Amino acid sequence: MTKRVAILISGGGSNMVSLAESMTGDHPARPVLVLANDPAAGGLAKAAAMGIPTAAVDHKPFGKDRAAFEDALQAKLEEAQPDILCLAGFMRILTPGFIAKWEGRMLNIHPSLLPKYKGLHTHARALEAGDTEHGCSVHEVTAELDDGPILGQARVPVLPGDTADMLAARVLPMEHKLYPAVLRNFAAGAREPIFIS
Ligand code: GRF
Repeated sequence: MTKRVAILISGGGSNMVSLAESMTGDHPARPVLVLANDPAAGGLAKAAAMGIPTAAVDHKPFGKDRAAFEDALQAKLEEAQPDILCLAGFMRILTPGFIAKWEGRMLNIHPSLLPKYKGLHTHARALEAGDTEHGCSVHEVTAELDDGPILGQARVPVLPGDTADMLAARVLPMEHKLYPAVLRNFAAGAREPIFIS
């Protein structure tokens, strides 16, 4: 049975594009919705151009009422009936209540070699620490931020003179390779982690 995938984005959606482009041919999944928390997210137009249904739930009018925002997200998701959620550059922190509804079926890409550098500014923090290696991770989403079981990692070298932007530019293409590989495995029911470099 082909798995139905909803992709949640906040911005340009480069990871969303790499996921959607990978779900063709004998891939065990297909994208059924791209959902953004910002109606101006650049990724929405890219998804529409690929023929994927899109929707937006602007989080701003909900202010601090995360539960109400998530109820609106959930309503859009229930219309699309996905089996798997992929957070792809989705920058809202989800509550344990929402995560519990999708536990074991929700993935996230994070631009660090977890468990190092959970949260924001991962590239700058790796440079500050003097790391010689950096990268990205795909993990299952659990109630703890950036903490769930790791399903894949990709490594890149940190080079002399690197800035955070240079490091981000070296990591992003690896994200675009890693996330589709992990999703293909996950949609086929495999949970063995993937490591690429
Ligand atoms: C990526 O580095 C992702 O890991 C992070 O946000 C960045 C933007 O991703 N969460 P995208 O181009 O919007 O997919």
